[in-house]
Amino acid sequence: MSDDEEEAKIESRLEGEDIYSPSEEFKKQANVNDPGIYEYAEENYEEFWADKAERLDWYEKWDEVLNWDAPHAEWFVNGKLNVSYNCIDRHVENGEGDKTAIIWEGEPLDETVEYTFSELQDEVSKFANALKDMGVEKGDIVTFYLPMVPELAIGLLACARIGAPHSVVFGGFSPSALNERINDAESKVLVTADGYYRRGGEIEMWEKAQEGVEDTPPLEKVVCVDRLGRDEVELDGDEEVYYHDIVEDQPTECEPEKMDAEDMLFLMYTSGTTGKPKGVVHTTGGYLTGVSATHDWVFDIKDDDVYWCTADIGWITGHSYIVYGPLANGTTTVMYEGTPDHPDKDRFWQIVEKHEVSKFYTAPTAIRMFMKWGEEYPEKHDLSTLKVLGSVGEPINPKAWKWYYEHIGGGECPIVDTWWQTETGMMMITPLPGITDLKPGSATKTFPGLKADVLDEDGNSVPTNEGGYLVVKRPWPSMLRTLYNEPERYVSTYWSEYDEETYFAGDGARIDEDDYFWVVGRLDDVLNVAGHRLSTMEMESALVDHPAVAEAAVVGKPDDMKGQVPVGYVILDSNYEPSDELAEELRGHVGEIIGPIGKPHAVRFSEDLPKTRSGKIMRRILKKLEKGESAGDTSTLRNPDIVEELKEKVSE
Ligand code: WTA
Repeated sequence: MSDDEEEAKIESRLEGEDIYSPSEEFKKQANVNDPGIYEYAEENYEEFWADKAERLDWYEKWDEVLNWDAPHAEWFVNGKLNVSYNCIDRHVENGEGDKTAIIWEGEPLDETVEYTFSELQDEVSKFANALKDMGVEKGDIVTFYLPMVPELAIGLLACARIGAPHSVVFGGFSPSALNERINDAESKVLVTADGYYRRGGEIEMWEKAQEGVEDTPPLEKVVCVDRLGRDEVELDGDEEVYYHDIVEDQPTECEPEKMDAEDMLFLMYTSGTTGKPKGVVHTTGGYLTGVSATHDWVFDIKDDDVYWCTADIGWITGHSYIVYGPLANGTTTVMYEGTPDHPDKDRFWQIVEKHEVSKFYTAPTAIRMFMKWGEEYPEKHDLSTLKVLGSVGEPINPKAWKWYYEHIGGGECPIVDTWWQTETGMMMITPLPGITDLKPGSATKTFPGLKADVLDEDGNSVPTNEGGYLVVKRPWPSMLRTLYNEPERYVSTYWSEYDEETYFAGDGARIDEDDYFWVVGRLDDVLNVAGHRLSTMEMESALVDHPAVAEAAVVGKPDDMKGQVPVGYVILDSNYEPSDELAEELRGHVGEIIGPIGKPHAVRFSEDLPKTRSGKIMRRILKKLEKGESAGDTSTLRNPDIVEELKEKVSE
């Protein structure tokens, strides 16, 4: 076939479908631009990952790349390394000590703090020494409940340095969520702050933390970061200390602990389909290999990049792609404390311009918000330093994709739509910007060497373009190893839907005629609200915790901005009457228990809920009502009449 014919064929195939191919110029300079890498990695899976692990510094090499005793994996068996050494010291030793490691941008304008790799080494060592002085030993879990302050990144690296796994609880979570996580992890130390700035105001954190540490028998020490600089928190005796006081006189040297590749690096609680959050366990060697390799290739990382991921470190995205991936690669990483609309709706673009950001990673919910605010905000700033744009957290709708491409990327930056999860640790389905032809809305293909599929209920691959369950068919280095204290739940949640070799992601997807993946979202009772993962079960238990509530069901309602918002259906206790005030009170109650992000968008009172004959609430029907769809077959319900009544309530 001639080139012309070939091109015509491609043209006709693509008719009606937007394809964005990398420019020749981009391809030429890309870290990886040979599509042959997919075939190579497929055929040499373990060597491929061993090569990636070689990018790190090891005290001792592994005996075996992978030991797969399904569904339990060990990667780089018997290898020894330290994550903090790999993220900091080795760059200093390679002459990069004066390079900027972290650019921290506070919410108040012009409050910027920069740390070079050498300075980061000093700060991390000091805090690591302070932790040791407090009695933290290898294997002890340290809990963090902090806003986006530099001490959070420093704290994680300090823990990694001494082999103490960390558990970060998102600062927007409630005291009771913090309490549950401290106790579950049996943490001896909590690191928190007095407060932080949000939209120009000061937000209290210390009081929330105080509430969270009530009834936490294992806890011995609380460290307070004086973010607001007021020095006015009332510290209680020896148990509560200021961060600045305990690091002040510490030496700037702290020998990194030689960790086994399979030692736990951190624990991250995430919502599951029951009320109890799951403690996802990530380990050392495989995790760092996975996040550094994907960060390098997916963002096409260069030495002089300024990379900014807008996530909060309280979520996995911040762990993998603000802290560990970028720093392992010696990349300058930006951390921002505040919101995108303070002091005005151009704050992000002001930061991009100010620091000449070249790689930018954000969430679809933010992009849709920028779109609503209008292109005049990005237009005020010079965004020409941007080279690659990323998206994560939920499916990105093609309209938002194109807006991002045009108004942020100036029509020149590839967009990497990356599908992954807390459990996968690293990006799994993602374009490689120097190779992949992009289709807006599709996360495209698996990262080289990985294997994913979409199955029907019986475990057969679904035909092209038909929907099914997304699965991963091969272990990968940064996969979760287990659920903390719940090894059986690890097997039953992820490896039992089909067989023990097939990882069940809980997402729905389809594969198109070009083998591109289109992820549609969760198929279980997990909601994705503005990129935050929330369990409907947790919200339901928060509702029934209120004396007025006899029974409750929470489902997701599609939302233009946030993707989904929670809606609560409530049957009241006979002593209570429905009212707007009560609905408001219940919303507030859930917000108190889970945190503001869990606050239901609406509460709908009803005499009854659609139930099966055995009494199970049919949430599926409620979901359909919220989507404005027909309820479908209701004949198997014990109380089909209630559906019509509810339908009217929803349309009100
Ligand atoms: C969703 C965040 C479509 C998905 C890294 C997944 C996505 C859940 C994408 C994990 C994407 C994440 N396209 N859906 N590019 N990225 N998701 O654990 O439903 O907070 O299961 O990890 O987010 O959320 P988590």
